[in-house]
Amino acid sequence: MSLTQLLGIDVPIIQAPMAGAQGSALAIAVSKTGALGSLPCAMLNADALRAELTTIRALTKQPFNVNFFCHTQPAIDIEKEQAWRAMLTRYFIEYDLDADTVVPGPARLPFNEEAAAVLAEFQPAAVSFHFGLPSDALLAKVRSWDAKIISTATTVAEAVWLEQHGADAVIAQGWEAGGHRGNFLSDELLSGSVGNQLSTLALVPQIVDAVKIPVIAAGGIADARGINAAMRLGAAGVQIGTAYLLCNEATISDVYRRALKSESARSTAVTNVFTGRPARGIVNRMIKEMGPINFAAPAFPLANSAITPLRVKAEAQGSGDFSPLWAGQNVSGCREISAAELTYEFARGVSI
Ligand SMILES: Cc1cc2nc3c(=O)[nH]c(=O)nc-3n(C[C@H](O)[C@H](O)[C@H](O)COP(=O)(O)O)c2cc1C
Repeated sequence: MSLTQLLGIDVPIIQAPMAGAQGSALAIAVSKTGALGSLPCAMLNADALRAELTTIRALTKQPFNVNFFCHTQPAIDIEKEQAWRAMLTRYFIEYDLDADTVVPGPARLPFNEEAAAVLAEFQPAAVSFHFGLPSDALLAKVRSWDAKIISTATTVAEAVWLEQHGADAVIAQGWEAGGHRGNFLSDELLSGSVGNQLSTLALVPQIVDAVKIPVIAAGGIADARGINAAMRLGAAGVQIGTAYLLCNEATISDVYRRALKSESARSTAVTNVFTGRPARGIVNRMIKEMGPINFAAPAFPLANSAITPLRVKAEAQGSGDFSPLWAGQNVSGCREISAAELTYEFARGVSI
């Protein structure tokens, strides 16, 4: 079955869910064009999730995707937390902040019973996951309204695992991709090695050969040329994130917007210093001085707590020195236009 048939869409383009960078407005705008819009839910509590889903349902009848993280929530390691804060002390002094006011705690929750219950009220056509899949019991709930299940693979082994564990389609996330790496079978990246993390060009055809479910290419795709190239490699569709970041419906800060439009956006790195998990963003002071990979960073998502006050204060002064400026290696597709215009442009160029 083709990806468009599987998801009930007209063009095989998925707007990547981007937690912290967009809400329902971007998803609605993209879904209305016949592509698949996505709502990132990793940072939404049950009430916020219900409000966003109510808005989407009110404004479009088209299929849409909701996206969750499904990491295992780590216990807070006080010693590690304190060591990490001690390493950040000089920045707290510089910004006249009290490190003791940092509240340790998760900023991103994994998919859970409460979220599944809210989803059941709205029955979205597609549910995508990052960092593997949730428990069988939670997956069964999502399946109860026949939602299609999608998840991200960064290696061939992860794609095969996802197929064997019930995914209906797999996203092949190349090394170029912006935001968090979806890796879940191996932590190799956190040891500083990137050996098993392949570029989109290398990863997509190898996953296509290894699984029977549709493969969605992601990472570095910024225009129709990229879409057609991915389809030539055997992808059934594409998931595009970075190119949507400057769209009118994106909700990024001024600091982030300026960085994306500047020369510095051409230099990105995969770093764990903002959340504890490797993610690609524009190289800034925090990445240069503390990263890109820092073994002292608390486990995902706990590393985020200590840096939050620094980020907030720096941003208030117009600086993105401590902000996670997630972006992929190809920002050439970022345009300050509506998400519908951008999607129609992509769709018009699809020739395969
Ligand atoms: C700002 C930003 C935020 C992201 N947040 C998420 C997320 O919440 N969930 C997810 O599954 N993927 C997330 N991603 C990764 C995308 O799903 C996708 O892999 C990536 O955007 C593809 O590469 P590209 O950015 O080069 O298009 C994010 C990417 C970006 C750029």
